[in-house]
Amino acid sequence: MAVQPHFLLITYPAQGHINPTLQFAKGLTRIGVLVTLVTSLSAGRRMSKTLFPDGLSFVTFSDGYDDGLKAEDDRDHFMSELKRRGSQTLNELIVDSAKEGKPVTCLVYTMLLHWAAEVARAQHLPAALLWTQPATVFDIYYYYFNGYGDIFNNCKDTSYAIELPGLPPFASRDLPSFVLPSNTYTFALQLFQEQLEQLSQETNPKVLVNSFDALELVAMNAIEKLNLVGIGPLIPSAFLDGKDPLDKSFGGDLFQGSEDYTEWLNSKTKSSVVYVSFGSILVLPKRQIKEIARGLVDSGLPFLWVIRDEQNKNEVKEEEDACREAILERQGMIVPWCSQVDVLSHPSIGCFVTHCGWNSTMESLVSEVPVVAFPHWTDQGTNAKLIADVWKTGVRVVANEEGIVEGDEIKRCLDLVMAPGKTGEDIRKNAKKWKDLARDAVREGGSSDKNLKALVQEVGEGCF
Ligand code: UDX
Repeated sequence: MAVQPHFLLITYPAQGHINPTLQFAKGLTRIGVLVTLVTSLSAGRRMSKTLFPDGLSFVTFSDGYDDGLKAEDDRDHFMSELKRRGSQTLNELIVDSAKEGKPVTCLVYTMLLHWAAEVARAQHLPAALLWTQPATVFDIYYYYFNGYGDIFNNCKDTSYAIELPGLPPFASRDLPSFVLPSNTYTFALQLFQEQLEQLSQETNPKVLVNSFDALELVAMNAIEKLNLVGIGPLIPSAFLDGKDPLDKSFGGDLFQGSEDYTEWLNSKTKSSVVYVSFGSILVLPKRQIKEIARGLVDSGLPFLWVIRDEQNKNEVKEEEDACREAILERQGMIVPWCSQVDVLSHPSIGCFVTHCGWNSTMESLVSEVPVVAFPHWTDQGTNAKLIADVWKTGVRVVANEEGIVEGDEIKRCLDLVMAPGKTGEDIRKNAKKWKDLARDAVREGGSSDKNLKALVQEVGEGCF
């Protein structure tokens, strides 16, 4: 009798990695694959609301930072402990699963955990990388380390046009911040290099991308030596393909939410609300917070703004003072966290002011919500470029010389997207087009649906 496929997934313990990995896991269980999902104890403890489907087991391990990584902690030590203890956990799980008659048949790891591929090789298992950013960004890192490094080193200002095979021309502000000469996160760049070196050791290197063919076909096929496969968007089913109407959240929130925004959203008219969120990591400077508050209040539009407690602690709720009147008059609402996929699908949402994290980008796309792109670092500049210039589903803010986006600029962008006029109309038309294509990709027989099933089949046939 054929062995039931059993995928062992390990995710880096951050929200932007946990969410797509959980959706990938749920998608696998829907097609009869057993899944064991592994992450750190600190993340696992915070994922209190998690509801897992049948066939998905959840395992945590102590990485030695059980209260979470703090800004003052030694990052190198954290990464090496994550590797040491994570490798040990994966090895034990592989051995134990075999003893229990449910042998692991494939190991999938998210970016930054490339050492998991060594575990797979030692155990003679196929492995794949789950890339949680766009294929375009993967390609840029690849080119950086494969013959094009000088181009990046010479790129100093925002107008320098960088041409890379199969990709649109970039200015420096469109590139991942880690490849720019100004990068101070050298460890991050090194991790991407190690990642690529790991892949080069595979006979059939496979990169599963949270994206889809119609969105990034050229980028997906740009690198001959590597097999990039679109399996996204990895979004809760109820908001995407309806294969599981009960799948209404990622289920892995690391932050405490607030439920009381729904009634407020219900009280607003269709497509009138600006939703503002900068993801799970960014903490904005005080001055920037004030300018955002000014832009939102001056726009006169209703707004729902996520400001995590972490930011509030730093700013002593100044931002709330800056828009206190608007809040009292119910123009605006500030929450510490929300179910973003749920909010974006609410009919009253008209626009998303986002830092352009890749998950937020995909979530806006499948919800048909126009974007004001407000990128900061890592892949976000590239994602903003794709949003504003390639898919044309939004506009991008321009910062002043000190790197601050002023209130007037935020208001200008909101006017462009929300007010009647050609720019807004074109953006809404494009948003509809991309939403339809995203749904087509995950539908039965769509490109991502086929790619996922082909992956499971290949694993079953021992083809990679
Ligand atoms: C990080 C990087 O910053 C980002 O650039 C990279 O693309 C992924 O890793 P993060 O900043 O957290 O991610 O942003 P994003 O990728 O958008 O992920 C945030 C996730 O948290 C999204 O899935 C979003 O739905 C969720 N979220 C955010 C909530 O559910 N509620 C909130 O209030 C805010």
